[in-house]
Amino acid sequence: MSFLLILHSWLRWAVIITAIWTIIRAIIGLSGHKAYSSGDNKSSLLFMISMDLQFLIGILLYFIGGWAKNWTDGQIGEVMQNSAQRFFTVEHITMMVIAWIIVHIGRSVVKKAKTDKIKHSKSLVYFLVAFILIMIAIPWPFRTGLGFHPLFRF
Ligand code: HEM
Repeated sequence: MSFLLILHSWLRWAVIITAIWTIIRAIIGLSGHKAYSSGDNKSSLLFMISMDLQFLIGILLYFIGGWAKNWTDGQIGEVMQNSAQRFFTVEHITMMVIAWIIVHIGRSVVKKAKTDKIKHSKSLVYFLVAFILIMIAIPWPFRTGLGFHPLFRF
């Protein structure tokens, strides 16, 4: 459990770095009228792979950590009254799953796009929206009422 939590906490940085890398490449590609290159494809692929890993570890944490049980033990009303409980039982998983779906749809839309310009602009829109959702859904240490979630967990 604690090993998975440490992994999940550190992997956030892989998600954030690959997302920013992908978004910057899309902006440069779009503004510089550049061809859509294998480097552009690689950055979004790495973003998707790190999201897939986070998703897998997150689902394990959701069940092992007892968050899933909140739905079935008849306490969901009380859970909703508590901001930390509500955050991990409902908000974090919902926003992250939506972001994960957007990344997957984005990869397929970009692959099918006819021109390099459309590929860059679709990349920018899909991956930027996913990135914003991810940043909102992360339990940053400065967010009050969610318990202690450090930037770097050891
Ligand atoms: C996609 C589905 C995801 C699920 C189901 C999920 C699930 C969870 C759960 C259950 C926890 C609470 C662990 C506990 O304290 O018991 C957690 C914590 C956390 N999640 Fe996720 N998560 C997902 C995606 C993500 C993503 C994409 C990121 C960041 C890019 C992320 C970042 C974090 C962070 C930073 C914590 C706090 C870790 C700590 O306390 O050190 N999660 N997640």
